[in-house]
Amino acid sequence: MLIHNSERFIVNNEFAKDVERGLDDKRKHISPKFFYDKKGSKLFEEICQQPEYYLNRTESQILKNSVNEILKIIGEDKISLVELGNGNSLKTRILLGPLLARLKNISYFPIDVSLKMLKKSIVDLFREYANLKIYGVCSDYVTGLVRINEFIKFKKNVPKRKFIIFLGSSIGNFDPKEALIFLRSIVRYVRKDDLLLIGIDLEKDKSILDRAYNDKNGVTAKFNINLLSRINEELDGEFNVSNFEHKSFYNANKHRIEMHLISKLDQEVRIGSIGKTFYFKKDETIHTENSYKYSLGRLNNLVRTSGLQIVRNFVDPNKQYSLVLLKKIPNTAKS
Ligand code: AVJ
Repeated sequence: MLIHNSERFIVNNEFAKDVERGLDDKRKHISPKFFYDKKGSKLFEEICQQPEYYLNRTESQILKNSVNEILKIIGEDKISLVELGNGNSLKTRILLGPLLARLKNISYFPIDVSLKMLKKSIVDLFREYANLKIYGVCSDYVTGLVRINEFIKFKKNVPKRKFIIFLGSSIGNFDPKEALIFLRSIVRYVRKDDLLLIGIDLEKDKSILDRAYNDKNGVTAKFNINLLSRINEELDGEFNVSNFEHKSFYNANKHRIEMHLISKLDQEVRIGSIGKTFYFKKDETIHTENSYKYSLGRLNNLVRTSGLQIVRNFVDPNKQYSLVLLKKIPNTAKS
């Protein structure tokens, strides 16, 4: 097991810094990457079970329906499966079974910043799949990819060709410019025979989107509010969470779901480890998440400008979600 874990020691520090910076801003914000503590990860899994939250279900369905086609495109040559963020190895399993059946053995490299998540999924997968070689990589995605390339280069018996998967519409958390920068930095570590599979939520009726992020069981609300509980627990915060309200809506102009926490009253909140008190006016919001939705046109554009081309775009019959199979645009004469 290859574990690159120097990052984990700075996580709390990073959380404190990010919260301080975000709450000091004129328009308050906190990054959505901090949703996923133990409780938050559980709540996210619960969100995926909600009838209104079509994303996870639709992606799994598309994956099931397209796995044979994907295998055909991969062909007989062995591959190393690289997964960016594997909090969701449930969906990975849809691929792993058929992939193993066809290619006999596979090297699997999940990359995740959370060492805990990584360890847990590795242990589970080890038990289930005898012919799976797992190399967990604890780091951010781009660093992880660099490490994997180095590893693959010197290791015999590990396929040099990669199949990189990035599921769950996680790319939606980036704004379009960041998404472009991110994909471009990934593309730098992709070879011409590598394949990439990315899940992206498609733009659709505002009412469907609004409902998906305002489930009637209130799980998304709990997920959002949990961010404040996490600050209380990990950063010695003194939020009274019942003084904040969940709000999320589709901002059609910006093609994104926005999630906010709204202060129900004028209040001040001390955060011990930051050593500061923050002021919230009534109705002032903390912006906690953007989740971008793509039209097929904007998706095409993102892909092309990243240096990628579409091999196949798998979309469900209701055109709600896209699972897009990509490869690098061959490097011809430099322009
Ligand atoms: C994990 C980022 C894809 O944007 O739909 C779910 C997170 N936030 N409900 C999404 C989320 C509120 C989710 N992603």
